[in-house]
Amino acid sequence: MARTLAVILAAGKGTRMRSGTPKVLHKVGGLPMVDHVLAAAKSAGVERAALVVGAGASWATDRASDALSLHVQTEQMGTAHAVLAAREAFTDDIDAIVVLFGDNPLVTAATIDRMVDRVLGGADLAVLAFRTDAPTGYGRLLLDANGHVRAIREERDATEEERAITLCNSGVMAIRAGAPLDALQAIEANNAKGEYYLTDLVAIGAERGFNMVWEEAPLAEVMGVNDRAQLADAEAVFQQRARSRALETATLIAPETVFFSHDTVVGEDVTIEPNVVFGTGVAIGDGARIYAFTHLVDTVVSPGAAIGPFARSRGGTNVGPGAKIGNFVELKNAALATGVKISHLSYIGDAGVGAEANIGAGTITCNYDGVNKHRTEIGAGAFIGSNSALVAPVSIGEGAFVASGSVIVEDVPADALAIARGRQATKPDRSPLKPKP
Ligand code: UD1
Ligand code: CA
Repeated sequence: MARTLAVILAAGKGTRMRSGTPKVLHKVGGLPMVDHVLAAAKSAGVERAALVVGAGASWATDRASDALSLHVQTEQMGTAHAVLAAREAFTDDIDAIVVLFGDNPLVTAATIDRMVDRVLGGADLAVLAFRTDAPTGYGRLLLDANGHVRAIREERDATEEERAITLCNSGVMAIRAGAPLDALQAIEANNAKGEYYLTDLVAIGAERGFNMVWEEAPLAEVMGVNDRAQLADAEAVFQQRARSRALETATLIAPETVFFSHDTVVGEDVTIEPNVVFGTGVAIGDGARIYAFTHLVDTVVSPGAAIGPFARSRGGTNVGPGAKIGNFVELKNAALATGVKISHLSYIGDAGVGAEANIGAGTITCNYDGVNKHRTEIGAGAFIGSNSALVAPVSIGEGAFVASGSVIVEDVPADALAIARGRQATKPDRSPLKPKP
């Protein structure tokens, strides 16, 4: 079986991001860019990856594994120099390497697969190109009369005529092990920038008679992120893809107003109204309905449940099958069983709510005493009257009834009625509005 190594370059400083966060850790769809690239390589079936980082890149350590080795490029001396920083990973059992850029988050598994296939199918080198009417800044592919690639010219080293070329280098390159990979050593730094350019491998290959091919990908897939405007562009492409995927099974009334994360799971026959934001860790079950202006993070919405409009849920919440969560309800770390109803204006945090319980408007679980968080347990079928405060830790038994306006500080047994509020005093004819006799 052929073995492929992905070499992911992420040692660049990313100065143009103007950020204290390393460039490749900036997120697209809630996932750091470099992790998008690692995931794409993995789902393309690439067995091993080598991540090239700058000195002191502590963020990379917890990504290392048997399948992912880390390599430090102490000085940023160019993309060829960066690939060679990973040469320890070029073991004898590797048949091909594929070079990917950590700031190129939209590259797909299918494209990586296509590039690797060209090399495993006999090419020495495969270059991934794209076309753009605004090629400034990219390396250009120089083709011969037969359409074969002979060299890649970087912007700074290009002649006026070469700059007019709109066929550009994406940076993705697959290289066969053996002579083509060894040729990396021959790359010199005699160019305008004084760097070791990976792209010079093509001109060397032309001299040495390598079999070199190129493939084309859409611009959206190979877009590099160098500044925050490009980060926003990449996010837009990501969202477009995520919306298309969601539309395979769900109805989105205004897809362009719905925002997904890289891991959002959307079931069948789901309806998502306008202006909904899915943070990370959200799964929506079949037949569920997400009403407008709802914000969900780290939440499972079970089949047939409904949430919103204007609802917020986070912190490991599970909304049970058929549950109904209405407007201005906030849920945090709440386990809601089947058929729970919380229709209006409530905060339910660090709580368990049993099946078919009904939580009235304005119910608050007082889960925080200023120092610690405490749990509230509400039994199945319980009824919590409007405007009740449940001071945790506290439990309300199954089928119990809490009168509205109660401040509950003691456990309520199953089937009990609890009333915890000032008694009403009614004084006949004492309304201040009543004219004095
Ligand atoms: C590179 C390509 C160019 C291509 C463009 C596509 C070269 C010489 N040029 O240019 O042909 O059109 O990408 O976006 O390859 N890196 C390191 N160590 C280094 C230098 C770079 O790890 O010493 C990493 C960067 O972190 C980045 C990637 O390599 O992830 C690309 O480097 P960058 O400087 O952005 O290359 P470009 O000038 O964009
Ligand atoms: Ca770049």
